[in-house]
Amino acid sequence: MCGIVGYIGPRQAVTVLMQGLKQLEYRGYDSSGVSILNSGSIKTFKKIGKLHNLESIVPESSKAKSGIGHTRWATHGKVTDVNAHPHTNKSGKISLVHNGIIDNYVILKEELEAKGYEFISETDSEVLVHLIDSYLKDDPKEAVRKALKRVDGTYGIAVLFSDYPDQLIGARNGSPLIVGVGEGEMFLGSDATAFVGMSKQAIYLDDGDMVVLTSKSYKTYNRHNAEVEKELEDVKIDSTETKKGEFPHFFLKEIHEQPEAIRRAIVGRLLPEFGTAKLGGLNLEKRDFFDIKRIHIIAMGSAYYAGMVAANTIETLARIPAQVFDASELRYSNPIVDKETLFLAVSQSGETADTILAVKEIQNKGGIVLGVVNSVGSTLARLTHGGMYIHAGQEVSVASTKAFSNQITVMTLFALVLGRMKDVPLSRGKELIEQISTLPEKVEETLKCASQIEEIANKYKNSQSLLFLARGINYPIALEGALKVKEVSYLHAEGFSAGGLKHGPLALVCPETPSVFIITEGEYFEKMIGNIQEVKARNGKAIIVTTSNDKRLIDLADEYVKIPEIDEILSPLLTIIPMQFFSYYISLALGRDIDQPRNLAKSVTTE
Ligand code: M6R
Repeated sequence: MCGIVGYIGPRQAVTVLMQGLKQLEYRGYDSSGVSILNSGSIKTFKKIGKLHNLESIVPESSKAKSGIGHTRWATHGKVTDVNAHPHTNKSGKISLVHNGIIDNYVILKEELEAKGYEFISETDSEVLVHLIDSYLKDDPKEAVRKALKRVDGTYGIAVLFSDYPDQLIGARNGSPLIVGVGEGEMFLGSDATAFVGMSKQAIYLDDGDMVVLTSKSYKTYNRHNAEVEKELEDVKIDSTETKKGEFPHFFLKEIHEQPEAIRRAIVGRLLPEFGTAKLGGLNLEKRDFFDIKRIHIIAMGSAYYAGMVAANTIETLARIPAQVFDASELRYSNPIVDKETLFLAVSQSGETADTILAVKEIQNKGGIVLGVVNSVGSTLARLTHGGMYIHAGQEVSVASTKAFSNQITVMTLFALVLGRMKDVPLSRGKELIEQISTLPEKVEETLKCASQIEEIANKYKNSQSLLFLARGINYPIALEGALKVKEVSYLHAEGFSAGGLKHGPLALVCPETPSVFIITEGEYFEKMIGNIQEVKARNGKAIIVTTSNDKRLIDLADEYVKIPEIDEILSPLLTIIPMQFFSYYISLALGRDIDQPRNLAKSVTTE
C-alpha cells in the first residue's frame, strides 16, 4: 500500500527520494509526492498517477540534503494532487507523510478547526501535520510525541521541520517504519526496499517507537519516551531482486524464479535418512506437538489458498484436523482459543493488517501463533512465537506467485514433520522427501508449458468469464487460478469444486465461458472425467491441465496441457504454474498493467 521514504545526509535528497519511491512502486499506489528541505525552506511536489508524472515536476538538481517522499494508495479522499502526501502546515514549515489510518481524525479535525486551522485535503493524514504544529514550541520531537499521544489508529510517519534542518523524525504504530543506517547518512522506509542499494544496515522500529535522525546519528524512543537501544541488522534484500532483468514484467520473472525459490525453501531442511524435515525457527519442542489437537491457519488472499493446500496436507499426513480462516473475519469472531489449538499465520509481506490484527487477538487470548512469512524482520515475523521463513526472495509483482509456491512448500515440510511423529511410516517419509527434493527440476520442466499457455490465453482472451474447477488438494489451486486471472486481467473468473458444479455454477457454462479443469491421477480422477463430460454436454469449452496421458482426457479436451507426473500431495506446486502463465498471458494480450493491477496494493496494511 502506501510507501514512505526519508533521507538526511550528504547526497542530493531529491535523487535519493525518487530512487526510493521507484523501489517502493511495487507496493501499488495512485499518487506520489516529495518534500525537500533547502536553505531553511521546504518545497513540496505531488502528482496523481505514475511516478513519471512526479518526475516531470521535481527539480532535476537541487541542493536539498534532506527530504521525505510518499506513494499514496487512497483510503480517505479521492485520488487528487491535493490529497497526495506530503501534507504541510499553513506556514509550510512542517511537512509530513503518513501510512495507516487515523481513526479519530474527525474529532481531531473539528478541534483543530475550532482553533483556526484550515484543512485543504480530504485525508485523515492532514490532521497529523496541524496537530504537530499545534504542539510545536521549541522541540520538534516533543511536538510529534504529544501529537501522537492524541491519535487513535495506525501510523508510520516521517516529518520534516524547516526550522530544524538537521533533523528528520519518524514514528510507527501498527504501520512499519525502518531506519536505514548508512555512513554519515540516514534513511527512513516503510520497508527496507525503500533504501536497498543505498544502505546496508537497518533498525526495525517497534510499535510506539519514535526516532530522531541526523545525518550521523539516530536516537530511538519507546512509547514511554525512554531512549532505547535497537539492534542494527543487515538488510537482507538482494538488489537484483528489485530489477526485472531480461523479463518484461516482475510477474513473469517471479514465475520463472520458482524452481530456485523452492530450492531455497528446502535447502538444509530435508532429513532423507529419517524421511522427515527440520524446521529451525519454530521455537517449540517436538514433544509440544503431541498436545496439538487442531491447527488453525490464518491468512488472506493467495496466502489463504496456500493455507487451504496446507490444511489438506496436514490432515492427510498428520491426521490432525486443520482449517483455514479468513483473518479479517476471524479477528471479529471472538475466536475460540485453547491450549490444544496451534495457529499458523501465513503472509508473504508479514504486514497484512487483517492477519496481524487476528494474530494479536489470538495472542491476547493466550494462543500460540507461528508465522509462515517471507519478509524477514516484518511485523508478523517479529510478533509471532516462532515460525518458518519461506525464503522466496523479494516478491515485487502485486500478484503473488513464488511466495504462494514457497508457502505451500514450507507448510508441506511442516505437515511431514507432524506426519512422521504420527502415522507416516519411514518408507513413506523417505518417498516424500525424495519427491520434494526433485521439486525444483519438476517445476522447471513444468515452466516449459509457457508458449502453449500463451496460445491458449490468446484464443480465450475475449471470454465472458472463466471457470476453474478441481477437487481435493487441487481445489485451492482452482481458487488461486481464478484469483490470478481476476486480479491481473480484470476478467471475471471463479473457482469451484468440480463436485459443486451442478449445484449452481453449471448454469454459467456456455461456449463463451470456458472451464479450466485441473486433474491429477489420484483419487478424484474418474469423478473429474464425469465433470468434464457435464461441461462438454452443454457446449462448454474444456481447458484441461493434467498429469495424465489418459486418452479420454485428450478426446474431451478443447485444450490439453500435460504437466509432469508427481505425488498427488505435491501436485499443487506444478498445477499452479499453468494457472500463473494463463493469468500472465491473458493480461498481456489485454494490455493490462501486469505488475501493478488497478486498485490493488502489494501489502495491504489497512483493514
Ligand atoms: O502479504 P500477504 O501474503 O499477507 O498478502 C495477502 C494477500 O493480500 C495477497 O496474497 C493478495 O491476495 C495477492 N495480491 C494475491 O496475488
